[in-house]
Amino acid sequence: MHPEKGFNYLYFEVTNRCVMKCPRCPRTYEKLSRVEDLDVELFRKICSDSKTKNLEFLEFGGNYGDPIYHPDFIGLIKIAKDLLPQARLIVHTNGSKRKAKWWEELMSHLSSKDIVLFSIDGLFQDNSIYRVGSDWESLEVAIDICSEALTTVWKTIIFSFNEARLDEILEFARSKKFDYFLLVKSSLFGSFWTGNNTKEDPLKPRGSGLVNAQHSAEVSRLNPRCRDQSLFYVSPTGMSYRCTWLHSNTEPQGDYPTCFRSESFEQMIHESSLNLFEDLLKTPEKFPSRCHNVCAKIDDSDNKRSRHPQLKLELKRDLNSLQKELREWLACQ
Ligand SMILES: C[S@@+](CC[C@H](N)C(=O)[O-])C[C@H]1O[C@@H](n2cnc3c(N)ncnc32)[C@H](O)[C@@H]1O
Ligand code: SF4
Repeated sequence: MHPEKGFNYLYFEVTNRCVMKCPRCPRTYEKLSRVEDLDVELFRKICSDSKTKNLEFLEFGGNYGDPIYHPDFIGLIKIAKDLLPQARLIVHTNGSKRKAKWWEELMSHLSSKDIVLFSIDGLFQDNSIYRVGSDWESLEVAIDICSEALTTVWKTIIFSFNEARLDEILEFARSKKFDYFLLVKSSLFGSFWTGNNTKEDPLKPRGSGLVNAQHSAEVSRLNPRCRDQSLFYVSPTGMSYRCTWLHSNTEPQGDYPTCFRSESFEQMIHESSLNLFEDLLKTPEKFPSRCHNVCAKIDDSDNKRSRHPQLKLELKRDLNSLQKELREWLACQ
């Protein structure tokens, strides 16, 4: 869809704050110097623009932070519900360290079709092995309140410390009345993170095939998803792109259209869509390196390497059939 016709998907990274230090999160290994929170008036401006009036999805996630720690996250939700009542809201969070009262107030503004997706990689103290600084007690309060109120997704990344306990995690998620269980293979393992070429990465699962293969494609094999989707991304400082993957504090984005907070949403759209794709495709060297990883066309040989990067299970089924499906998925990786 052409940007001039409007957007059906807005993705906001509303803050770079987080109370955790997950070792493979860019906020941890890049060591951010400043706290950044999205300006509430910019959010209101975008949500009230005629280009977003047919919005279907409004997602809160990010590359550097966790949306629940924006100082006025509930205020942002109220604005979204007021101006875009038809949109489905999606919140990605680690779920720790907010009080029951805060979650109850948040739920009072959301509806059952909205989604909260919790990133939880282990049960009880195991969750802190990767989610460093997480607090199980407050997380459990959050999941109990949310799973009664709206659609909930339990997302687990496969690591060495949880690969043998995935059926227990699945069972726990089901007992907590989550709607979906999402199991994800990560590609963030190796010497870049351990700083050691010879030693095996301690977080890397031992099971072969439980790591997501990194792709890097030539430009002729790029399949830019942003060409067809009417999505608009906004960072905490108001940087905007037509893709959720590009925002980075350290990597230059080449000539990919970007816009730093402008006076009007119209201008943000215009600047972040200039010469989109058609011109870039003629000048492959201008594509940021990130596009080569994220939007590589997958052919058959690639498929063998990353056949099932994730498994999604609907949890309102009997436990035996769910665990059977999980075991079958793991066995064919
Ligand atoms: C930076 S986080 C922001 C949202 C929220 N704080 C969270 O953790 O879900 C964005 C996404 O990166 C994912 N992530 C964190 N560490 C990862 C890893 N080692 N491999 C793959 N994805 C990872 C998170 O699970 C989340 O879905
Ligand atoms: S919880 Fe999310 S934002 Fe926070 S450090 Fe971990 S991955 Fe990063």
